[in-house]
Amino acid sequence: MYHKFIKPFPKDFLWGASTSAYQVEGAWNEDGKGPSVIDMGKHPEGTSDFKVASDHYHRYKEDIALFAEMGLKAYRFSIAWTRIYPKGTGEINEKGIAFYNDLINELLSHNIEPIVTMYHFDLPYALQEKGGWSNRETVDAYENYAKTLFKYFGDRVKYWLTINEQNMMILYGAVLGTFDSKIENPQKELYQQNHHMLLAQAKAMKLCHEMCPNAKIGPAPNIISIYPASSKPEDVIAASNFSSIRNWLYLDAAVFGRYNSIAWSYLEEKGYTPIIQEGDMEILKNGKPDFIAFNYYSTSTVAESKNDSSNKNSTGDQQIAIGEPGVYRGVSNPYLEKTQFGWEIDPIGFRNTLREINERYNLPLLVTENGLGAYDKLEEGDVVNDDYRIDFLRKHIEQAKLAITDGVNLIGYCPWSAIDLVSTHQGFSKRYGFIYVNRDEFDLKDLRRIKKKSFYWYKDVIESNGEKI
Ligand code: BG6
Repeated sequence: MYHKFIKPFPKDFLWGASTSAYQVEGAWNEDGKGPSVIDMGKHPEGTSDFKVASDHYHRYKEDIALFAEMGLKAYRFSIAWTRIYPKGTGEINEKGIAFYNDLINELLSHNIEPIVTMYHFDLPYALQEKGGWSNRETVDAYENYAKTLFKYFGDRVKYWLTINEQNMMILYGAVLGTFDSKIENPQKELYQQNHHMLLAQAKAMKLCHEMCPNAKIGPAPNIISIYPASSKPEDVIAASNFSSIRNWLYLDAAVFGRYNSIAWSYLEEKGYTPIIQEGDMEILKNGKPDFIAFNYYSTSTVAESKNDSSNKNSTGDQQIAIGEPGVYRGVSNPYLEKTQFGWEIDPIGFRNTLREINERYNLPLLVTENGLGAYDKLEEGDVVNDDYRIDFLRKHIEQAKLAITDGVNLIGYCPWSAIDLVSTHQGFSKRYGFIYVNRDEFDLKDLRRIKKKSFYWYKDVIESNGEKI
């Protein structure tokens, strides 16, 4: 739709930026922190581990001062479950509570709204050893952990996110390092884990409303528009299949408390249906989100599945869908350019995704990730000319504005990432930040913070409330 008048961003729009604990903090075994599945996992050869990351744990004050200088209105970060409960449950680690108390207070002292992800891929390893999400006890452990977070931080945190990218953990857990390769019938087991995570999420949403009536809580999956490769009806059905399995399964459960029917018939067809105990659907229904947070990097394009060996059931990456025999086949979109890491760049797809989510659920939307991973170059005089990142973000912000004009209730935009950090599986060289961290894949150098060109650009965007982009 062409608009003659473009609406401005709302006055109190949450201009922010994001990180996650294990990718930015470092201090992986300090002050009583227990190991997580990420700490105990393998990292692809040639990429950094997460032990030091950006050393944010020791430098958070300096980092927050920089966020404030950039003008951030909000900062989306995650709490490491293993800092609060080193073993996932049991005794609280007071130093973990103290760290996040300090972090939250520091943000508030700079008028930056904390947006807290309760769990971002880093399940406590002690829980994993007992079966992780396959074990229903993990639901109780998460609920107990949620209760602790609301008790200690609920007086100051107004925005909570339950689970980061649950859909990516289920679909691409092997890539993200969250998948337990020892399980026997992995696909079926994964959907049982999924069911348990949905229960955990619903319980947390209910608890949040009871304990923190002034706070808001929502899910944070990765949601993208799925295009059919052509107007061939078979391709359209394939796109609808993938969209239900990848997107709507997760949001229908979070918002309506029910399983999406197309996704459910897929689970039946494949023999992946989870065991649903009596009362489970009641639990799902009782947890209601106040908003939908979602991460967006790219769209996917799919064609009819040929149901033969040319249709591989695998993926090289969480944003590059290859397909599943009999269901859909991922193809590349000839209209889109790609990042240095092969992710298709689709700002208009962002507008479309916002519209689709808005149409289905009619809830406020919060973008909790969007950004460009690139090999940045530190030049003479501490300069990083990341014009390509500015270009990427500018185009997405323009489309967000159009989506608002379309009638989408968008309450905030938090690009990934506030500062350079370790990518999920492509190391430190794949940088996303507005702030450069002076380290290499393995050489930690001095970890000095350097403002990139995009830092100054984003500052202007925020200052002008999205008018000067
Ligand atoms: C999302 C995750 O999948 O994408 C982040 O929530 C991640 O944790 C981001 O870092 C970018 O992906 P990657 O693989 O480039 O780090």
